[in-house]
Amino acid sequence: MRRWRSGGRGLLLGGVLTTFAMLLYHMMSVPLLEVYHPRMLVLASCDRDPILTKGKTISTKGAPRQVSGCSPKMNVMFMKTHKTASSTILNILFRFGEKHGLRFAFPNSRNDFVYPEMFNRLQVKGYQPGMCFNMVCNHMRFNESEVVSVLPPDATFITILRDPADVFESAFHYFNSLVPLTWVIPAKEKLAEFLKDPWRYYSPNGYNSFYLKNLLLFDLGYDNNLEPDDPRVEQAIQAVDKRFQLVMVAEYFDESLILLKDTLCWELEDLLFLRLNMRRDSSISKMTEHQRMQARDWNAADWRLYRYFNATFWAKVEVYGRERMAREVAELRRRNAEMATTCVEGGRAVEADSIRDATLQPWQPLGDRSIMGYNLRKDIDDVRHAECRRMLTPELQYMYELGVNLWAKLFWRQMLGVINL
Ligand SMILES: *[C@@H]1O[C@H](CO)[C@@H](O)[C@H](O)[C@H]1NC(C)=O
Ligand SMILES: *[C@@H]1O[C@H](CO)[C@@H](O)[C@H](O)[C@H]1NC(C)=O
Repeated sequence: MRRWRSGGRGLLLGGVLTTFAMLLYHMMSVPLLEVYHPRMLVLASCDRDPILTKGKTISTKGAPRQVSGCSPKMNVMFMKTHKTASSTILNILFRFGEKHGLRFAFPNSRNDFVYPEMFNRLQVKGYQPGMCFNMVCNHMRFNESEVVSVLPPDATFITILRDPADVFESAFHYFNSLVPLTWVIPAKEKLAEFLKDPWRYYSPNGYNSFYLKNLLLFDLGYDNNLEPDDPRVEQAIQAVDKRFQLVMVAEYFDESLILLKDTLCWELEDLLFLRLNMRRDSSISKMTEHQRMQARDWNAADWRLYRYFNATFWAKVEVYGRERMAREVAELRRRNAEMATTCVEGGRAVEADSIRDATLQPWQPLGDRSIMGYNLRKDIDDVRHAECRRMLTPELQYMYELGVNLWAKLFWRQMLGVINL
């Protein structure tokens, strides 16, 4: 044993054993999942009316709603960008879709559409020509015409952006094991070292290099190596502006949800959330103001994209009414706090090691365990129990419950230690 420990073989063996143990743990926890068998509404084609909410009319519980007129939108495309609080929005969409029996376009046996390949309709689980879905919301690299082909013409397109400095920091940390370019950075403070002189370490041809530069534009389907003043960046921005009815901003998450509610004509109840896939503070590299500037400079095309949509976002808030927004945000926070108290033990997120129920354990990057999760309160009545449970079910488990079997693909992903979440 001692000989092994001293050499690289010991490390390798340790790694393999750990992976194997984690794998076993995951596999064993699967059959224990409470499997709901939601009967999904099957649409043969986009021509049929997908809204079958059994004559349900939207009530106007107290909160001021716009003049009646609107009916809740059931056809939604969510372009799930990386590292932008998008897992929390995914959970909101899953819950709404499940509640209304909507049909999701899911990837086949995985939680992304063969990212970083461009989206194409054949990646959709069980796809047959002419098929049409209510919701598309898993990670993908966006291709407008392909996405449009699987949705009804009235689908609402939404996405979310975040300050590229933070996207960069988060992606750098999270995808490190997938990006060989970062393995050779010597210093302990890899992020700082990289930002000092990115071109020393970066190459556009490096394997998975897109995780390190303009990841937002890349996710949206564009070239991530464009200079910010390249006319193609402006064209990309205009195309996104034209296609997406709402571009949310992670820094203003609650305001974003209120605009989402308005855009989709949903109820406040539908937007309640607990933050999912959240890292514990200690695993987040605190960037200095100078490093943030460097990171924005390095991701200058994304920075331009972000500033543009931050401006359109606030223009929308202006139209919505600042006071009305403030009122609605306060109400959302109040209802969220109430829900967290009802559903979650201690009312807040805990570290991975403190989550007792394996089926509520979020997926952890290999050897890190930095993602936090929740314990469901034990004393909730049956009515609230299912609702609460869904609210804090991590993405992979929720997809499993919605009928996507991920475990074969997860085996290989587990080996690599990273999943696109
Ligand atoms: C996007 O999809 C269309 C077909 O719908 C295809 O012609 C085009 O090449 C795709 N774009 C990219 C960049 O893959
Ligand atoms: C985003 O917009 C808000 C409101 O106008 C502004 O205060 C903030 O500085 C903007 N952020 C960026 C990065 O432009």
